[in-house]
Amino acid sequence: MKIAVFAGDGIGPEVTREAVRVLEALALPGLELSEGDVGGAAWRKHGHPLPPKTLEIARAADAILFGAVGDFDCDKLERHLRPEQAILGLRKELGLFANLRPATVFAGLEDFSALRPEIAGAIDLLIVRELNGDVYFGEKGMRTLDDGRRQGWDMMSYAEDEVRRIAHVGFKAAQGRAGRLCSVDKANVLETSQLWRDVVIEVAAEYPDVELSHMYVDNAAMQLVKGPGQFDVIVTGNLFGDILSDLASMCVGSIGLLASASMATGTMGLYEPIHGSAPDIAGQDKANPMATILSAAMLLRHSFGLEAAAARVEGAVAKALADGIRGGDLGGTLGTRAIGDAVLERL
Ligand code: NAD
Ligand code: IPM
Ligand code: MN
Repeated sequence: MKIAVFAGDGIGPEVTREAVRVLEALALPGLELSEGDVGGAAWRKHGHPLPPKTLEIARAADAILFGAVGDFDCDKLERHLRPEQAILGLRKELGLFANLRPATVFAGLEDFSALRPEIAGAIDLLIVRELNGDVYFGEKGMRTLDDGRRQGWDMMSYAEDEVRRIAHVGFKAAQGRAGRLCSVDKANVLETSQLWRDVVIEVAAEYPDVELSHMYVDNAAMQLVKGPGQFDVIVTGNLFGDILSDLASMCVGSIGLLASASMATGTMGLYEPIHGSAPDIAGQDKANPMATILSAAMLLRHSFGLEAAAARVEGAVAKALADGIRGGDLGGTLGTRAIGDAVLERL
C-alpha cells in the first residue's frame, strides 16, 4: 500500500497530519507513506509548484492523499508557477478524470446546515465532476485588442470521448445508489454543453435501469438549496462541478466535512478535501480535519477495496459528530488536533 502524502499549503499540513494518524492507527499491513512537496511550499523550496521529484513519487504510488494548495503571496506569479498548478498538474498528468464528491448530512448535524433542518436531513447525493477538461484546460491568454483594451480569454471545450467516459462513471454510480442520474449543463447557451447533453443521452441507452434527467446549472444551484433531497447522482463538467460542490458543502453544514476522490481508470486515485488552504485560519489549529479524514476513508475504499476499514473511519467521524465534537466551522471550540484525537478515540 504505497501512499504518497502531499500536504501542501495553509491548513493542508494540519489536516493531512490528522488523516495520516488515522491511517496509521488502522495498522494496515504493507502501509508505506512517502511525502512530497506541492504548491506554494514546493515553489519556495524548488521554484516549482509540482517539482519532478513530486511527480515521480506520485507515479510510484498506489494512491495519493492530498491536503490543499494555495498561497496568496503567489497570486502574482506567472500562472504556470502558481500553487494551484500542482493539483491541476497532478489531475492531468495522472489522468484523474473522475472526481467523486459525496455530500450527506450526518445524523444530528441537521441544525448546522445553512438550510432548514427538515430540508437538510434529506441530503444524500454524489457529485460526479469531470476533472480533466472544460475551460480549466483549454487554451487561455491575455491579449490587447486593436482598440487598446485588454482582454482575458479561456477556451471551453469537451470532446465526445471525454464526456462519454465521465457519463459512464455517473451512470455506474447511480446503479450502485438510488438509480437516478441528473446531468447538469448549460445547453441553452453553450455548444460545449449541447455536446455534453447529446453524448449523455447516447450513453443512457446502455443503462436502461437508470433514470436520467437534465438540468441547467443555474436551476441546479437553486434546486440544491430548495430541495437537495431530490438528487441522487449529479454528473457535470469541471467548472460547474467545482461550484456546485462548494454549494453542497454548506447544505451539509461545513466545507470542512466534504471529502473527494479523483480517479483514473483503474484504482489509482488522489484523495483530498474539497476545501482549499484556508489562509485565514492556517497555522492556528482551527481547521476541521474531518474532510481529509473522510478522504482517507475514500482512499481505503476506492484504491484498495478496504470497505470495512473505510466504513470504520467514517463511523468514527460520524460518532464524533454525534457526540458533539465540533470545531469553529460548526460553532464549537475544538482545534484540529483535538478533533483528530476525538476521531482516533472512537476508531
Ligand atoms: P477555502 O476553501 O480555502 O476557504 C474558504 C473558507 O472556508 C475560509 O473561510 C476557510 O477558513 C473556510 N474553511 C475551508 N476549509 C476549512 C476547514 N477544513 N475547516 C474550517 N474552515 C474551513 O477557499 P478560498 O479561501 O477561496 O481559497 C484559499 C486558497 O485555496 C486559494 O489559493 C485557492 O486557490 C486554494 N484552493 C485550493 C484547493 C485545493 O487544493 N484543491 C481547493 C480550493 C481552493
Ligand atoms: C477544487 C479547487 C481547485 C479546482 C482549484 C484549487 C484549482 O477549487 O479542488 O475544488 O478549481 O478544481
Ligand atoms: Mn473548488
